[in-house]
Amino acid sequence: MTVFERYESNVRGYSRTWPVVFDKALNAKQWDVDGNEYIDFFSGAGVLNFGHNNPKLRKAMIDYLEAEGVTHSLDMHSRSKEQFIERFVNTILKPRKMDYKLQFTGPTGTNVVEAALKLARKVTGRRDVVAFTDGFHGMTLGALACTGNQKFHQAAGVDLNNVIRVPFDGYLGEGVDTLEPLRRALEDTSSGINPPAAFILETIQAEGGINLATKEWLQAVAKLAKDYGSLLIVDDIQAAVGRTGYYFSFENLGIEPDLICLAKGIGGYGIPMGVLLIKPELDQWEPGEHTGTFRGQNLSFVAGTAALDYFENDEFLSEVRRKGEFTEERLVKIVEAAKVDIELRGTGMIHGLDMGTGEKAAAVVAKAFEQNLIIPTCGPSGRVVKVMPPLTIEDELLIEGLDRLEKVIISL
Ligand SMILES: Cc1ncc(COP(=O)(O)O)c(C=O)c1O
Repeated sequence: MTVFERYESNVRGYSRTWPVVFDKALNAKQWDVDGNEYIDFFSGAGVLNFGHNNPKLRKAMIDYLEAEGVTHSLDMHSRSKEQFIERFVNTILKPRKMDYKLQFTGPTGTNVVEAALKLARKVTGRRDVVAFTDGFHGMTLGALACTGNQKFHQAAGVDLNNVIRVPFDGYLGEGVDTLEPLRRALEDTSSGINPPAAFILETIQAEGGINLATKEWLQAVAKLAKDYGSLLIVDDIQAAVGRTGYYFSFENLGIEPDLICLAKGIGGYGIPMGVLLIKPELDQWEPGEHTGTFRGQNLSFVAGTAALDYFENDEFLSEVRRKGEFTEERLVKIVEAAKVDIELRGTGMIHGLDMGTGEKAAAVVAKAFEQNLIIPTCGPSGRVVKVMPPLTIEDELLIEGLDRLEKVIISL
């Protein structure tokens, strides 16, 4: 029995899918303790956009540590925080004509979502929040209530309240306006549905199975929110920081969220940081009203600032778009050549192969692992194979990973 089986909680998950002990990693390669080499098509669920152990980001952190830079400072001012804020505002917000304040929350995504929900409820004085089928927003109670997955709900052990669940775009089939029942109910003051504090959504549902909302649908949600004085929260925790070929997933979609949740990739190196972007007029927190010990880790600020170098011009993002298009072309061919029915969805460097059943998707993942390819599942019953390599993956490795995936899928 391994030390993990004997002493680590039964709750562990990914280690069951890839039952080896990992030791080293560099960009899109990982090695286990026996020296076996793997290609990473997972990126730590959207954390490792700039690859494992990115040397540039590592150097920035080592320099900072060697200069006795402060590592922990709760939410006190620090040089690294100042530099991160300035760089984020100048590199990301200003060029996009976006004006937001930054709230550093606890470092995981769910902490950011909790802050967003709490602030939306405080600002509007309302309780209910609209969340969508197949949405994934985290595991703490407020965020969990907005998450769709039944297994996670059942583990809560308490009631998960104050959420109005609405079908996501496409959930009821092509061309069906999933917002119409809610729109009607909000028009009718006797419908039993009160105007919500907020609408929370992912423009691309990642854990939910790579479901992409259309521009028209997103704009209709934004309009509905506006009509009823509700805030629009975009949970961009998995799809931002370049993943779609744009910094934010909602760029060019004609919506202007009131609150934007960022985490995962924003810390750059794979170390945690959570940020809530707040429209200035909505920043109605009292000082210290929402707190926590680990808000804005200084090492994450340092690595996160260095990672913003990638966004100084369009070079990196256009490379992401190029690699994304290449990936999609290859995946289209793989789907065509497969003997089983597969639906491909995605954009940029986030794609999903809907295998129809969790068993088939699990078989792909297991066989891919035999080929030393780390690739996860997502979606209802885990039926979607998620293709999400680091954005910095070298072309040869991307091709090699896709070759391995093709071999697995053709063999089904
Ligand atoms: C869109 C989205 N929101 C929130 C979360 C929760 O983030 P965390 O697991 O860091 O709490 C995730 C995690 O996968 C996510 O994909």
